[in-house]
Amino acid sequence: MSASYEVRDGVAVITLNNPPVNGLGYETRRGIADGVDRALADPAVKAVVLTGAGRAFSGGADIREFGSPKAIQEPNLLSLLKQMDNATKPVVAAVHGTVMGGGLELALSCHYRVAAPGTNVALPEVKIGLVPGAGGTQRLPRVVGVETALNMIVKGDPVKSEVLAGLPGQQLFQKIVDGDLLAGAIAFAQEIADARPLPRVRDLPLTHPNADAFFQFARNTVKAMAPQFPAPARCVDCVEQAVANARSGSFDAGMTYEREAFMALMMTPECKALRHAFFAERAASKIPDVADDTPVRAIQTVGVIGAGTMGGGITMNFLNAGIPVTILEMKQEALDRGIATIRKNYESQVKKGKLKQDKYEQRMALLSTTLDYAGLKDADLIIEAVFEEMGVKEKVFRTLDEVAKSGAILASNTSTLDVNQIASFTKRPQDVVGMHFFSPANVMKLLEVVRGEKTAKDVLATVMGIAKVIRKTAVVSGVCDGFIGNRMIEQYSRQAGFLLEEGCTPEQVDKAIEKFGFAMGPFRMGDLAGNDIGWAIRKRRYVEKPNMRYSKTADLLCEMGRYGQKTGAGWYDYAPGQRKPIPSPVVVEMIGQHRKDLGITPRKISADEIVHRLVFSLVNEAAKILEEGIASKASDIDMVYLTGYGFPLFRGGPMCYADTVGLFNVVQQMKRFAQNPHDDASFWQPAPLLAKLAAEGKSFNP
Ligand code: NAI
Repeated sequence: MSASYEVRDGVAVITLNNPPVNGLGYETRRGIADGVDRALADPAVKAVVLTGAGRAFSGGADIREFGSPKAIQEPNLLSLLKQMDNATKPVVAAVHGTVMGGGLELALSCHYRVAAPGTNVALPEVKIGLVPGAGGTQRLPRVVGVETALNMIVKGDPVKSEVLAGLPGQQLFQKIVDGDLLAGAIAFAQEIADARPLPRVRDLPLTHPNADAFFQFARNTVKAMAPQFPAPARCVDCVEQAVANARSGSFDAGMTYEREAFMALMMTPECKALRHAFFAERAASKIPDVADDTPVRAIQTVGVIGAGTMGGGITMNFLNAGIPVTILEMKQEALDRGIATIRKNYESQVKKGKLKQDKYEQRMALLSTTLDYAGLKDADLIIEAVFEEMGVKEKVFRTLDEVAKSGAILASNTSTLDVNQIASFTKRPQDVVGMHFFSPANVMKLLEVVRGEKTAKDVLATVMGIAKVIRKTAVVSGVCDGFIGNRMIEQYSRQAGFLLEEGCTPEQVDKAIEKFGFAMGPFRMGDLAGNDIGWAIRKRRYVEKPNMRYSKTADLLCEMGRYGQKTGAGWYDYAPGQRKPIPSPVVVEMIGQHRKDLGITPRKISADEIVHRLVFSLVNEAAKILEEGIASKASDIDMVYLTGYGFPLFRGGPMCYADTVGLFNVVQQMKRFAQNPHDDASFWQPAPLLAKLAAEGKSFNP
């Protein structure tokens, strides 16, 4: 049963009961509608209370129903709201925990609302590229005012019930109930049971003293903040319509306007991409052969080995989540340096007002240090972030095998080394896993969880769980060189090099891909990360894969000592202490000379060609990764790129983008690129999976 009914002291209580957050799925909607009918028909009932079981009133639409016919099966949400509008006895919504999206729209169609303090109130539809679809933009402004409502609608973030209840003149909540919410709501319902006429939000007046100027300002602001997304501006339009239609007394015209905006946005690629990302994030935590109810190991204390760039950031993640960490280093100086960096990071957050001083102190109190492995003997999870050399990792893991307690999870943050080999240094390879954080590790959302051949399922389940605790988006990758993200980026970087040889400047390439939506182009990225890192990898590749072609331009750059921002010069020049890239005549000259040496006559390359050569090089490698089972689903690859590589969210990730273009079209373009004598024809050989899906008219993401 997903909504229950009972009568208490003349008040019908309808309780939404659809765990985990009382999503308004078909059965729940049916239950509410039947409950209201029953209450209206029962002469012994004077009023109705609508409440939610468990931890929320309602989180809105039931996402499990998305896209299925059940989502619109009658009574749909709009009919339910109409039923509330026409109810002849007072209906009181008693909200707690979360009241969001359709859940808030339902509450707004009740006659009265009472709330528990601390309730999260939101219309988050904009986050999946939509406007609220059941009157949120029409009713919320009437109860909290135009400006508060518009802010909530264009941002989609929750606001606490007591904050809203404190707004002057608000009519969202008639009462904040401390203590027993249901008892308070029933008492309130009894008080107002006979009051007539029944107040309806739709009948409230709605004005703004300077509407035209205000809405124009709001529209400009949201366009500047999110130029790639159409939904925020449509939210402004809908609220503007609410005000305009209130003047002429036509509430329903505003509802129709909102509905049309909702339906039109639903069909946009941006909305599809955001919905895809929303579901991809949830899907990433599911591992096909690891059951949801796999028992997990308790992680109460963490050890980190190495207090360098990564070790420090990794440590902060756990301290932020209230989990004690012990860091181990080889020398006291290294420990001191690492701790000083952590302190500096926190202190800068305190200065910016992002962290309270006492919180900072609480976090530092959870941190201890050691130079002796015995200090890690009680840790439940130990993450190694030492130098990237197999010999060093071997020593660390052999020692860990001796000192770590039985059942401890032993993780490596390696970015390139073989996790199976690392596991083989221990007698407990089932407890070994890769946890590949991205730099800066305390900021970047992505965590690649590298599953070794022998990694136990409960170890994976535990690491996926702890990733949530430290607020990372974890994606499982099999073992291969570069895992999912870096293996793909290598092909993208190769292609970027070919573009230089054929006629582009670094600036042209960066500008084109940044206009497509990437946070940063490949050359700016190289300057930020350090061009010497890629150089070291290529030197290895020249030995391992002598037939693989790379452009020499990046090597020539490094030979000039231009490693990037850290040396004050890379693909670009940098003014001392500045990060703004300045196109470098020296680099343009070096590239030009290299072209001459190769006998290439430069040509003008369009932004479209630049973008598609770069993005399809990601896509083709991703298809191989998928086929080899390194990633278990295409949406995982999208998550890696959205959260770790600055791929534009409004395009949904490389696989989602390829699906939007159509895989047949992707393959056709790749065939054209393969004919370019200065490119590498083998590079553009479509991966078998890509070729197969394209031939069958299918896509990567179902
Ligand atoms: P780093 O050089 O900044 O730090 C390494 C630290 O480990 C140093 O403080 C060093 O004293 C310590 N160390 C070395 N051998 C040790 C041992 N036997 N016992 C205890 N401590 C030892 O290096 P970074 O950049 O933090 O990298 C660490 C690991 O993280 C590497 O495996 C690297 O591939 C990986 N990684 C690095 C990323 C980056 O962007 N820097 C990104 C993702 C992974």
